[in-house]
Amino acid sequence: MASSDEARGRPRTGLKEGGVKRAHPLHLTLFGPPGSGKGTQANYLVEHFGIPQVSTGDLFRGEIKTATELGQRVKGYLDRGDLVPDEITLDLVRRRLEQPDCAKGVLFDGFPRTVAQARELDRMLRQAGRRMDHVLFVRVPEETLVSRMAGRLTCPTCSRTYHPELAPPENDLVCDNDGTPLVQREDDRPETARRRIKVYMDQTLPVLEHYRGQGVVSDIDGVGTIEEVRDRILQAIENGGDPPHAPRGSEEGART
Ligand code: AP5
Ligand code: MG
Repeated sequence: MASSDEARGRPRTGLKEGGVKRAHPLHLTLFGPPGSGKGTQANYLVEHFGIPQVSTGDLFRGEIKTATELGQRVKGYLDRGDLVPDEITLDLVRRRLEQPDCAKGVLFDGFPRTVAQARELDRMLRQAGRRMDHVLFVRVPEETLVSRMAGRLTCPTCSRTYHPELAPPENDLVCDNDGTPLVQREDDRPETARRRIKVYMDQTLPVLEHYRGQGVVSDIDGVGTIEEVRDRILQAIENGGDPPHAPRGSEEGART
């Protein structure tokens, strides 16, 4: 039987043969509201697929931490919970995609976040003879998001995230990966977290329609253990996205 990739006229990804053998570079996007678990799931997926994570949020925080000119330009947007202007964000992504480690594909996390960013990413990928393969829409109710963000601890060195009850580090308050003391993100304060959710609803949710039209979106229930969510994501990638313009089971608003 033809795979879903072949049915849509795409080369096979080869995922069934062990998760890493692929006929073409793999481009995935983890899409979802703040606190939905994109960064957490990215930790697994980059290892599984052997492709780099490109998180625009992590890139911006890195620039702020090292006090670059770009960091100074974007700090105010992150502190307020607003989106960084498209031009700045796209310039950063364009430069990141030129790095050699992106040759095998990319796992985008928190990008694209506006329809203009999605259109420009399409163009960049097309120009390189590539395309977006899957958009994984991780759905979590708003009240769960707020409590996850309120407790989140982040490693300022490698950006791995933890939660004292939901996803605790092995040793108290230091990163399992590199031993750095964990910190709370400035923008996780409740009023900024609420602002980020509103910005997501207003400016980022419309990006889904853009990708639904391409038939590459998979809806993932983001509630459950980290491993359960990971298995749902891997299964969805194996199965492929919805067919273009497929009727949806529920409205986007049912889960944030
Ligand atoms: P960004 O860094 O992208 O933040 P975000 O999208 O708001 O998402 P988060 O990182 O807050 O959440 P997450 O989904 O990664 O959740 P996590 O895995 O950590 O962006 C920050 C800012 O940068 C933006 O506000 C904007 O200013 C700017 N920006 C970034 N990209 C931009 C763009 N493209 N355009 C313009 N501006 C941009 O998990 C959260 C917590 O839950 C953790 O504590 C974790 O341990 C826990 N957890 C995760 N999964 C589970 C689970 N299954 N069960 C229980 N707990 C869980
Ligand atoms: Mg994140």
